[in-house]
Amino acid sequence: MRLRNIAIIVLAIVTLVGCKPTLNENIITPAPQSVTWGDEHVEVSDGLYLNLHVDDEHKPRIMAALHNTGIKLASEYHDGKSMSLDISVIAKPESDEQRGIDESYTLDITRQGVTITATTDAGIFYAIQTLGQIYSSLGMLWECHIEDAPRFAYRGILIDISRHFRTKEFLMRQIDIMAEHKMNRLHLHLTDAAGWRLEVESYPRLTSYAAWRTPATWKEWWNGDRQHVEEGTEGAYGGYLTKEEARELVAYAADRYITIIPEIEMPGHSDEVLAAYPELRCTQHPDRQGDLCIGKEATFEMMQSILDEVIEIFPSEYIHIGGDEAGKSSWMECEDCQRRMREEGLESVDELQSYMIHRIEEYLNARGRNIIGWDEILEGGLAPNATVMSWRGEEGGLAAAAAGHDVVMSPHGYCYIDAPQDAPHTQPESIGGYLPLEKVYSYDPAPATMAEDVAKHILGVQANLWAEFIVTDEHYEHMLWPRALAVAEIGWSMPENRDYDMFRERAVRIVDGMIERGYSPFDLKNEVGNRPESLEPVEHLALGKSVTYLEPSRYYAPKYAAAWDATLTDGLRGTWTYADERWQGFLGRGGVDVVIDMEEVTHIESISADFMQICGPGVFMPCRVEIWLSQDGEEYEQVADIEWEVILDELPSFKSFGWEGSAEARYIRYKAHRSKYTGFLFVDEIIVR
Ligand code: ACM
Ligand code: ZN
Repeated sequence: MRLRNIAIIVLAIVTLVGCKPTLNENIITPAPQSVTWGDEHVEVSDGLYLNLHVDDEHKPRIMAALHNTGIKLASEYHDGKSMSLDISVIAKPESDEQRGIDESYTLDITRQGVTITATTDAGIFYAIQTLGQIYSSLGMLWECHIEDAPRFAYRGILIDISRHFRTKEFLMRQIDIMAEHKMNRLHLHLTDAAGWRLEVESYPRLTSYAAWRTPATWKEWWNGDRQHVEEGTEGAYGGYLTKEEARELVAYAADRYITIIPEIEMPGHSDEVLAAYPELRCTQHPDRQGDLCIGKEATFEMMQSILDEVIEIFPSEYIHIGGDEAGKSSWMECEDCQRRMREEGLESVDELQSYMIHRIEEYLNARGRNIIGWDEILEGGLAPNATVMSWRGEEGGLAAAAAGHDVVMSPHGYCYIDAPQDAPHTQPESIGGYLPLEKVYSYDPAPATMAEDVAKHILGVQANLWAEFIVTDEHYEHMLWPRALAVAEIGWSMPENRDYDMFRERAVRIVDGMIERGYSPFDLKNEVGNRPESLEPVEHLALGKSVTYLEPSRYYAPKYAAAWDATLTDGLRGTWTYADERWQGFLGRGGVDVVIDMEEVTHIESISADFMQICGPGVFMPCRVEIWLSQDGEEYEQVADIEWEVILDELPSFKSFGWEGSAEARYIRYKAHRSKYTGFLFVDEIIVR
């Protein structure tokens, strides 16, 4: 017993004294271009204190960059155990054709000190972030030589502060995490139906009225009468950034090499503007529709005046002018819009929208700025210098790039982080869908197969956090992180340096660190993952058997056709999202009504099909399911008639409707009735055993 204790103690001493720390090389996010680790570690047991050897002009910038890294500058009060930090800023080579500013850097760590080389302050800033990550991950430094530069010039996120207002302080906290991971664009969705969020002196009702509403949540407001109220009204919910706050935010972001891109929506999504200034409505359209009247000059006077104030606050090259999802129908009947179309020779309402975007582009170009807009700005003809943000997929972006326009890719299937990131029943209510970290990470904005002359116009990538269902700071952060980190790495790291398992390991650690700092990211350690049924194809008796769609369910929605007539017997079960091309969507009155031909009389013991319900986007359970069997296809015997009470619930649900028994049949008729709620029925597979 004694001997054993002594042996353990000796072993422990040997371990402590004799063992070199090991290096976990997977510590830098986003993954850098090249790292060569040395053999030696650099002990900094009482904290890392750096002596700066740089020109005075760089000192304040470097001190700001050290913020949040855990690294301190050596001061006269320190006991002297500090390292030196040499920073050289070299002139930008003439031949450098990189887009935007040069953000590259090299970082060398030796026992003698740390050396950073970069051509710009941004490069120095990013080198210090890398240094901070090495130090905080290892608790020491390690000899290395790192050469790093971003793959894309634009690495952004959109935060929607219209649907639910967020403060300057909240945004600054997100900017900190963005900057630590080398993101450089924050697109603020400042204006939309649910609230205007930026002080504009020339149009004060935008903030004294259009920034406030009752009730508080977007969902109740949208499903109610969508009223705005005067600031100060009891129960008024909302808010806005004053000009002073916006300027502080811009400066805070700029210190961290992040450009804030303001979005001022036009001509659609402008219900709140029309609520405050109803004279900009289309004639003959006094009520609920959100498109500005393009026929009236007052619309241009107002938008130009707003933009004058916006560009005075936001130095961004790009001003986002929205351009998405205009309804356009009021323009067809409005006498002012019709007159504008006649006078300008415009043949469609698409061209009318394009007319407005062209004019606004000209206005901003004359003031040294460029417009960026959602891909709908392609409709009716793209303005000559416009940059396109591709969200409905990649097609708009690819078309714009092929025509020589710059593009930011933000396709909803990969970049819409308002969708839940884990099994939807474990997540807060959301817009629906399923967008786990791995799916975001799998996106490549410019794959190797893309033509070179198209790829050169892809500026980068952006994730969008729309906030219809997101009410609190904690919930915003839960949706943003860690998925925005995946965008940071897509945007920065070269494809050959990207590996999901490695990234995930780092993301788990970053999330832990964020929780320690008081953030509320999604805790990746507890990820449930995709719907278990979807992970493996299912074997069953009806696999590959033909399915006849009876009238009127013949007309499943083409957008949700999945594998068309093969879907219900292809063995592929749906994931958590109906947009996975496995779930088939039925929109018509008839619900689902299909016959499976088993090809011969077959002994059958069970028949079942799963449905999903996600009320937000209008996906509901059936209210009744009937199943019939037949041997000859003429005479059917009903074996099941199941009633179901559809209850509206905030959380998505999945449910099987089926029959169990014993029967001989060749034909199976499966009929699911739609409930009183208008929307979709989604079904993935009819399983026969
Ligand atoms: C958008 O999601 N309407 C840009
Ligand atoms: Zn009009």
